[in-house]
Amino acid sequence: MKDSGGNRRICPEAVERQLDFCGKIKGLWEGRAERAALACVQTYGCQQNVADSQRIMGMLREMGYGFTQDPYMCDVIVVNTCAIRENAEKKVYGIVGQLVHVKEKRPDVVICLCGCMAQQEVVAQKIRASYRHVDLVFGPQALWKFPELLYEVYTKRGRVFSIEQENGSIAEGLPVVRESGVKAWVSVMYGCNNFCSYCIVPYVRGRERSRQPGDILREVRELVADGVREITLLGQNVNSYGKDLDESVDFADLLEEIDGISGDYLVRFMTSHPKDAGKKLFDTMARCGHVAKQLHLPVQSGNSRVLKAMNRGYTREQYLEKVRYAREVMPDLVLTSDIIIGFPGETEAEAMETVELVKEVRYDALFTFIYSPRPGTPAAALPDPVTRAEKQIWFDKLLMEQNRISGELHREYVGKTVRVLVDGSSGDELWPLSSRTQGGRLVHLRGGLSLVGQYVDVRIVDSNTWALYGEIDGVSL
Ligand code: SAH
Ligand code: SF4
Ligand code: F3S
Repeated sequence: MKDSGGNRRICPEAVERQLDFCGKIKGLWEGRAERAALACVQTYGCQQNVADSQRIMGMLREMGYGFTQDPYMCDVIVVNTCAIRENAEKKVYGIVGQLVHVKEKRPDVVICLCGCMAQQEVVAQKIRASYRHVDLVFGPQALWKFPELLYEVYTKRGRVFSIEQENGSIAEGLPVVRESGVKAWVSVMYGCNNFCSYCIVPYVRGRERSRQPGDILREVRELVADGVREITLLGQNVNSYGKDLDESVDFADLLEEIDGISGDYLVRFMTSHPKDAGKKLFDTMARCGHVAKQLHLPVQSGNSRVLKAMNRGYTREQYLEKVRYAREVMPDLVLTSDIIIGFPGETEAEAMETVELVKEVRYDALFTFIYSPRPGTPAAALPDPVTRAEKQIWFDKLLMEQNRISGELHREYVGKTVRVLVDGSSGDELWPLSSRTQGGRLVHLRGGLSLVGQYVDVRIVDSNTWALYGEIDGVSL
């Protein structure tokens, strides 16, 4: 039976109630402080977390908080965490541990831990016992209730933990602070049902649930009207969009509808799961002028036995056939992927099949990871006889090949003129602007910040493994 996304939508009154809590917190501050209350939000993990942090900031702004980067100036500190690999968690424990010094200096500061790590019972227990300076812990599934939870901290003057598994809900109409006027994230769905055997996400983000197409279209329309140039649609597996809705609509249909919105903008999306990405999606991408010819299609492994053990739902051959078709209909496609090296039981020969696949596909870029056991996932219980040092050798081989390929593909741009969107400063003195091609490749440019938000044609004059360097006609040093 279909579980309608509509049923999972939190009723508008409940969201409204959260806005009332924002007002109440604002009231607590009124007349009390000689300066505006300040908050900071530190974000780890994927774009989903970045998007969540923008909602948290939106709620904080409704409560009257201003923002600072300096924790020692803060009245509220929010750490939005990631649980995808062990080192991501370790980093967060280090950072949260350091915040004890802020608490010593400013006993009234409220320290909040949220995000994927916080959804895990074991983490909550550890925080409860050993990180007593943390006042509020809540998982991604309780994010929409942040104002109520923070109000509880203030009025109870005690610690608050909200990590119940709610199996997922959708809150529309939460306020948002978008950090850029040029680019925006739009979640189209939440959660994941795939249970890849190594992955923690389905356990912390709950079941898949799609937003109503009308809500998404409204949001995109507003962004385009506000002059936003690049919109990235987000979901752990955007290709299963719509499966839980009553309405018969899939991700390709959604893209097509978004493409109908007029304006000078591009749409990107991530992540596509190869098992659900097919001809209809690729044909739609090829046809739709606003859709970037860019695909992040994580393969994870180039060996079919390992793919099966990972519970990925496709073979090496099926993956390669999808890539072939996508490139046939989009010859300029920019293709990227994620790869895990050292899955439990993977042999050297199997890992080298992954390296061979990478050489065959010639990705524009890769995100590569050494397998990290996540307690509670099926893979964590498998025998894992290969040493970390050996996995590192396989990993380095993969990286070396990919760096060579990225370097070669980037060199092919030199001498060409490409259209880019200038999206901010690069932090590089010689090439101060950063921009992206339609396919999402990074181009450093010379020019002034007044160009941010504009599409310009640039001549690529240099390149390396990671970036391109371009000059705008008529702009000199
Ligand atoms: N939903 C996306 C991925 C989200 S996590 C997808 O299915 O592609 C981002 C990447 O982290 C994954 O693609 C995978 O390559 C990596 N990853 C996930 N769990 C991991 C683990 N336990 N160890 C190492 N890498 C992992
Ligand atoms: Fe994790 Fe797989 Fe879901 Fe991606 S599709 S979030 S890798 S379980
Ligand atoms: Fe990390 Fe959660 Fe994203 S575990 S990768 S922040 S979905």
